[in-house]
This record gives sequence, structure tokens and C-alpha cells, in this order.
Amino acid sequence: MSDYYAVIGNPVAHSKSPLIHGEFSRQTGQDMRYEKILAPIGEFPTVVTEFRQHGGKGLNVTVPFKLEAFRISTHHTERADAARAVNTLVLEDEAILGDNTDGAGLVRDITANLKFSLTGKRVLLIGAGGAARGVIMPLLEYEPSILAVANRTQEKAYELQQRFSSSGNVVAIDYADLHGEQFDLVINATSASLNGELPPLPAGVFAAESLAYDMMYGNRDTPFLQFAALQGVTHFSDGVGMLVEQAAESFFLWRGVRPRTDTVIEMLRSHA
Ligand code: ATR
Repeated sequence: MSDYYAVIGNPVAHSKSPLIHGEFSRQTGQDMRYEKILAPIGEFPTVVTEFRQHGGKGLNVTVPFKLEAFRISTHHTERADAARAVNTLVLEDEAILGDNTDGAGLVRDITANLKFSLTGKRVLLIGAGGAARGVIMPLLEYEPSILAVANRTQEKAYELQQRFSSSGNVVAIDYADLHGEQFDLVINATSASLNGELPPLPAGVFAAESLAYDMMYGNRDTPFLQFAALQGVTHFSDGVGMLVEQAAESFFLWRGVRPRTDTVIEMLRSHA
């Protein structure tokens, strides 16, 4: 029987992961099947145990279970520890390895696909929830000159500054203090785009050559990207490349084979 994998979430019906992993397994000739599992709220650990009893080898974890996935893992990668969130589980014989491939997916999309060099650049990350936490450590590995974090609830940005104080130059900044500050890369890691909202960014944060990156996918016309376009920005991206790259990292973790991502990103863009 083929090895069994799934994405688990609530809701999960919209997930593109089965399509992406289906393409990866076809392309690499891996004998595996990949499904969607809707876990009722409060029953995540039970559903994972049942999946494992049915021979499940690995899971992608999506909203709202990334913290619970962190908690049920018996050991974590360093990047999952830093994020305090897990999006990939490897179900080993006795143990459960928790990893977080979101940040690696983001930096791979930015550096390899969009050809934007992070080193020495001024980066502004907006948001301080799970999505933002997951990408800080991988961004720092590329040594930006500054990684500023702005959040509507300021304390959360200050908590992140403290948490990462030993590992680099993470600086919490209030939205109101962004006036007069300019960044080479602005990443929207808030959930504002999901609700058609725009975080309170001042106009001057973008330079003409800046890259505006919205981690939301499936819509290249978010309020954040529209706002950047109005400021004259010509380099933008939604999060579809990140989505495919984080999936590729999970696939590599499970199967030891790195799939091609460009054709899959292209496929998703043409279906959007
Ligand atoms: P996720 O796991 O997707 O990061 P989350 O933990 O609920 O979800 O975090 C959502 C993030 O989006 C938070 O940083 C939130 O700001 P607050 O901490 O102040 O709640 C941010 N956010 C959501 N809507 C926003 C809006 N309209 N403007 C600015 N920030 C917003």
C-alpha cells in the first residue's frame, strides 16, 4: 500500500496541499497518497492518533492547529522551536517530529524565485501572530541589516523583539513611528488581507525598488498590494510561491527528495 500523508485543519476544504503534493509525487515517482482531514476543534490529538493507526506517515498542519501540533510533537526542529508553531509532522515509530517549513518556504520564494537578495537589506515585517513568528528565524539567517516588526497590538511586537534579542537585529516599531522610515522589503504577515483590510502603514515605507510581499495567496490584488502599487512599487508578490515552497520543504523532510517547484507555482497561478 502507498505511504499515506494528509493536510489537517479546520476548515480544510479550500486547501491546495493535495494538489501540490499530488504534483510533487507524480513528478518524483514517489508511491504515496495525500488527502485532506477535517479535524473537529478539540479533537486534534485524537485525529492524529487515528491517522497514525491507519499507517499515516506525515501531516501538514494548518489553521487553527499549529500550536497544538507543536504541543503534541515529542521533539522539534530548531526553527519550529523558535516559531512555537508546527506546520509539518513526521510520524516516526514511537516519536513525532514537529517542524515548521513556512519560513524556509518564504525565504526560498523571495531569494530563489523572486531573485531578491535579503542580505544587508532593511526588512519590515507587519504582524506578530503565528504567521509572523514562523518566518523571523529563517529571515535572520540571511542577515538583513534590520528586521523591523510592526503590529497593531504593540506588545506582541515587543515580545518578539525580546524573544529574538540574542539572534539578531529584530526591532519592534509602532505603526505611528514608521513615518519617515523606508524599507527594501515589506512583508504582510497579518491576517488583514483575509478580511479585505489594510494595516495602518504610512505611504513612505516603500521605495520605488522595494518588494511588497503579501503572505496571503490566491489573490494578487489584496488591499496591501494595491496600496503598494499606489506608492509606485512595481515588485510585488502574493504568497503562492511560499505555499508551494513550504510544501516542497515538507515533502523533502518526508521523502528525502526535493521536487521542482516552478511548474507547480505556474500551475496554481494559472488556476487562480
Ligand atoms: P496568524 O496565525 O495567521 O498569524 P493570528 O495569530 O491571529 O493569525 O495573527 C493575526 C495577525 O494579523 C496579528 O498580528 C494581528 O494584529 P493584532 O495582534 O493586533 O491582533 C494582525 N491583524 C489582523 N487584522 C489586522 C488589521 N486590520 N490591521 C493590522 N493588523 C491586523
